[in-house]
Amino acid sequence: MSDAVRAIWDGLKALERPTLTALFAAGDRLTDYSARLDLPGGAVRFDWSKTHLDAAHAEGFLALAEATGFAARRAAMFDGEPINVTEHRAVEHTALRGVGRDSSVEEAHALHLRMKSLVDAIHAGVLGEVKHLIHIGIGGSALGPALAIDALTREGARVDVHVVSNIDGCALEAAFARCDPATTLIAVASKTFTTTETMTNAASALEWLREGGVADPYGRVVALTAYPDKAVEWGVDETRVLPFSESVGGRYSLWSSIGFPIALALGWDEFAEFLDGAAAMDRHFLEAEGMANLPLRAACADLIYARLRGCQSRAVFAYDERLRLFPDYLQQLEMESNGKRVKADGSPVDGPTAPVTWGGVGTDAQHAVFQLLHQGTHLIPVDFIAAIAPGDDLDPAHHHSLLANCFAQGAALMAGKAARDPARAYPGDRPSATILCDDLNPATLGALIAFHEHRTFASGVLMEINPFDQFGVELGKEIAKAIVAGGATFDPSTEALLAEAGIQ
Ligand code: F6P
Repeated sequence: MSDAVRAIWDGLKALERPTLTALFAAGDRLTDYSARLDLPGGAVRFDWSKTHLDAAHAEGFLALAEATGFAARRAAMFDGEPINVTEHRAVEHTALRGVGRDSSVEEAHALHLRMKSLVDAIHAGVLGEVKHLIHIGIGGSALGPALAIDALTREGARVDVHVVSNIDGCALEAAFARCDPATTLIAVASKTFTTTETMTNAASALEWLREGGVADPYGRVVALTAYPDKAVEWGVDETRVLPFSESVGGRYSLWSSIGFPIALALGWDEFAEFLDGAAAMDRHFLEAEGMANLPLRAACADLIYARLRGCQSRAVFAYDERLRLFPDYLQQLEMESNGKRVKADGSPVDGPTAPVTWGGVGTDAQHAVFQLLHQGTHLIPVDFIAAIAPGDDLDPAHHHSLLANCFAQGAALMAGKAARDPARAYPGDRPSATILCDDLNPATLGALIAFHEHRTFASGVLMEINPFDQFGVELGKEIAKAIVAGGATFDPSTEALLAEAGIQ
């Protein structure tokens, strides 16, 4: 850590810690820390006023942004420079949204046109009747598509999509049970086209098609990958291979051909709106300076809790059933990106990095885990996400109550409540942020996801880590491969478990 960075962190740690109530009493927090962005899908409000971010912290974090080269790193990302230093790669998911260096935007556009042609051809019946798509992928090749399809197809989908990720055959069997081989396509989604889970599931899906009477199972497969040669070698005809650039990371890949199932389920126009919503957030992140930059602002508040106050987790509750998969998606984005113990230069980090991200949907979570948020010993910053327009057609009482509960929880966490009986007292001063959309639609979902991508990136820059590699996932995979290959020996506990399970 440079002396300047150390001094800034020391200064941040030494700041006074006024309560949220005191902060509200001292200034106009809504003007300072709540903002409304007009985005293609409608306005989205980002209310960070119920966090402990104040002028003193903002000043410290902006100094940190300066000292860690935030503006230069941001520019370098959009310019396609190899900011993923440990893998010597550029980070160009924003080019898929039309924001980035010209050559990458052009390449991404050409790949999207190819994807659109196949989507349109399938909708037009060129591959015969297609009722179902089994999308096989894992991690970033599954979580984004699963979230977007679950969130945006509540009123019906043009093709019924089943996302299968787990190597546990129960997952694939559940999809088989709901599909007819004669009218099903298989998408094999893998950036590397080597991932064991995906290739094993893909082989079983081919077998299922064959057993179901499909004469040419490979003819029913679409491959989504950054390594098209591998897909062709595996047996997919080149016309049904949709490539994407190696500079698009797995957990940032839903904008690429990995989003094929989203486009197939929704239609191309809606997929384009999804990209447009994300592009609007890209432009905000690229152009807004200082604390007016909302992903940077959110990252600073996150660091108050993770670095200055020792919070080991952060929770996200969507008060919207359509976003029930959002916490799962965020877990990979944040924990795989920033769950690191060394900086980009290999030296040890200066304090805690990504907290554990977890969450669920409101109001369900209120009746299960909110006890701990209000009265437990952990301090857990909470994000609430909601939409003003209801996603349902039932009595408006449902949606009114949903929103009332969402806002009540933030108010209660902050205000707390005194009581003579300690068991009934609430300490209060517990932080929350609220993201409130006019409407949940492809464009706002795109913007919401892009906001979190940039928030995660900004946190990584301020902690001086590389958010774009994920070497921590490799060791377990290597050991699993060694077990399957046989012949290797392990610790006594692992050996005993293997013997009990009849493996080796
Ligand atoms: O094991 C982690 C990981 O590499 C993720 O980063 C990635 O999203 C996932 O596996 C799937 O990888 P692929 O798309 O190459 O199959």
